[in-house]
Amino acid sequence: MNKCWYDYKTVIITGASSGMGKGLAERLIRDHGCDVIGIARTESKLQAFKEELGSLGHKFTYYPFDVSVKENWDKLAAKLKEEGIQPDILINNAGILPKFNRFSKITLDDVNHTMQINFYSSLYAIKALLPTLLKSDTPGIVNIASSAALCSLAGTSIYSASKGALKSFTDALREEHRKDCYVGLVCPGFTKTDIFRNQEQASEGAMKALNMVSTDCDKMVDLIEKGIWKKKGDMVFGIDAHAMNIGNKLLGTFCSHAASKVLEISKLSIFREVFTP
Ligand SMILES: NC(=O)c1ccc[n+]([C@@H]2O[C@H](COP(=O)([O-])OP(=O)(O)OC[C@H]3O[C@@H](n4cnc5c(N)ncnc54)[C@H](OP(=O)(O)O)[C@@H]3O)[C@@H](O)[C@H]2O)c1
Repeated sequence: MNKCWYDYKTVIITGASSGMGKGLAERLIRDHGCDVIGIARTESKLQAFKEELGSLGHKFTYYPFDVSVKENWDKLAAKLKEEGIQPDILINNAGILPKFNRFSKITLDDVNHTMQINFYSSLYAIKALLPTLLKSDTPGIVNIASSAALCSLAGTSIYSASKGALKSFTDALREEHRKDCYVGLVCPGFTKTDIFRNQEQASEGAMKALNMVSTDCDKMVDLIEKGIWKKKGDMVFGIDAHAMNIGNKLLGTFCSHAASKVLEISKLSIFREVFTP
């Protein structure tokens, strides 16, 4: 194992029960000897992951709670203090991808739900844990946004808004803590995880098309882990994410228009509602 700044550190990871969060947790435990504190709502999945870790199961403790409830973070901070646990790194990864739809068909309750999970949860976590994190020799905060923060497409207005808000917040936080805390932002492109579960009408064809532009979850975890290792501030991973990033910088709103047009022409079932007024 090559020496790395987060070897043997204590890392809090939200969304550790599935997808990228689980992948990152496993990597940090197996390859870096970290103690991971995992957060997610579904206790059975967290327990199953602990069991999967076998003899390393003791390196994974978990707290099943909803990250979008501020009080849950205050309780966690108090619990860690009470138990004398010093967290070093916080990875805000939990998030949801709401069903693709046009804004006129989305309720304000849905907007609030997405903003709470994808944006406010990270603020609550950082507010509650920053004073403790700063006591670490190697404090770090990593927020997982999305390529949707780099270029908005038709049908992703609120998801893009939530991830765009997280990106802007993180960029400012990084500057405020240049001297005392590593702050990283990850913008992954489509990645093969279960996040598409909310796309109810996703046909086999649609999933096949999405999979063609998606990065394997293991590969994405690898890229994220190496990025954090190098303490990169801004991490854009995946071919589609790079295309959206560069396209948006070079073409501005035309990038959103062109990419949205591709979705419309594709006639994929998961985007049908988006293009039906
Ligand atoms: N997959 C992609 O294509 C993609 C692309 C760009 C960005 N991202 C972002 O990457 C992050 C990880 O996504 P993923 O693809 O790995 O998704 P995933 O497999 O669906 O995992 C999401 C994780 O978040 C947890 N979670 C969701 N809502 C929560 C809540 N309210 N409280 C606590 N935990 C919650 C889930 O556990 P429970 O359901 O048990 O709570 C699960 O562990 C997300 O922020 C996502 O927006 C994903």
